[in-house]
Amino acid sequence: MDKNINIKVRVWRQRSAKDKGRFVTYDLANISQGSSFLEMLDILNNQLIHEGEEPIVFDHDCREGICGMCSLYIDGHPHGPDNLITTCQLHMRKFNDGDTITIEPWRSAGFPVIRDLMVDRTSFDKIQQAGGFVSVNTGSAIDGNAIPISHDTAELAIDAASCIGCGACVAACKNGSAMLFVSAKVSQFALLPQGRTEAARRVKRMVAKMDELGFGNCTNTRACEVECPKGVSISNIARMNREFIKAKNKD
Ligand code: SF4
Ligand code: FES
Repeated sequence: MDKNINIKVRVWRQRSAKDKGRFVTYDLANISQGSSFLEMLDILNNQLIHEGEEPIVFDHDCREGICGMCSLYIDGHPHGPDNLITTCQLHMRKFNDGDTITIEPWRSAGFPVIRDLMVDRTSFDKIQQAGGFVSVNTGSAIDGNAIPISHDTAELAIDAASCIGCGACVAACKNGSAMLFVSAKVSQFALLPQGRTEAARRVKRMVAKMDELGFGNCTNTRACEVECPKGVSISNIARMNREFIKAKNKD
């Protein structure tokens, strides 16, 4: 049964990209284990405002595991200690009375810190803008089954499309690689007939943009797959590599 717990949080405070940053420890009393992790941070921020201190800046939006905004590194794990969930879905019942919880921003060259726990993830938008879309005029809506696609293929495409662009894969990777994210975006189209027309151009552009923005390469540690809140498989990276080699061979 949920109870109330007393905890300490060690939070990374950094006023701007230029500031060096440091950990600050705060005490929190009577936190219901039924609260979400972000509700706990809301309570802490109310406490800080009440004490005349600056609240902690952190990213969040939907709080339903959909938008990919809640990018927190908790006790050494992107999205915290639970599996297959985002930070906003993490509950305080995962922690015990007396715990000290360490909270950091994503740390990667591709994601510079803006302030406190908020990082700049516009590099993901730039990779997406480089080719992660279908640009042909598809006309008006057609019957769902007009282009037959096998069930297994549709499932693989939907699994790839479940990527919410949160960046946990980058944060988990010792190389700061964005290949799980990019490969999910490449695969969701490469697997379907509607995406094939631009497949070669898409993969070349997205990989080039990823490299240009300073993300590292994959060395198959699978840390990304372990920490991904949506269970995106590294088999997508293998697919992206095949797509890339095929596209390059046609040049
Ligand atoms: S692949 Fe997973 S960890 Fe990476 S951005 Fe997508 S949802 Fe987040
Ligand atoms: S706030 Fe949207 S996924 Fe967590």
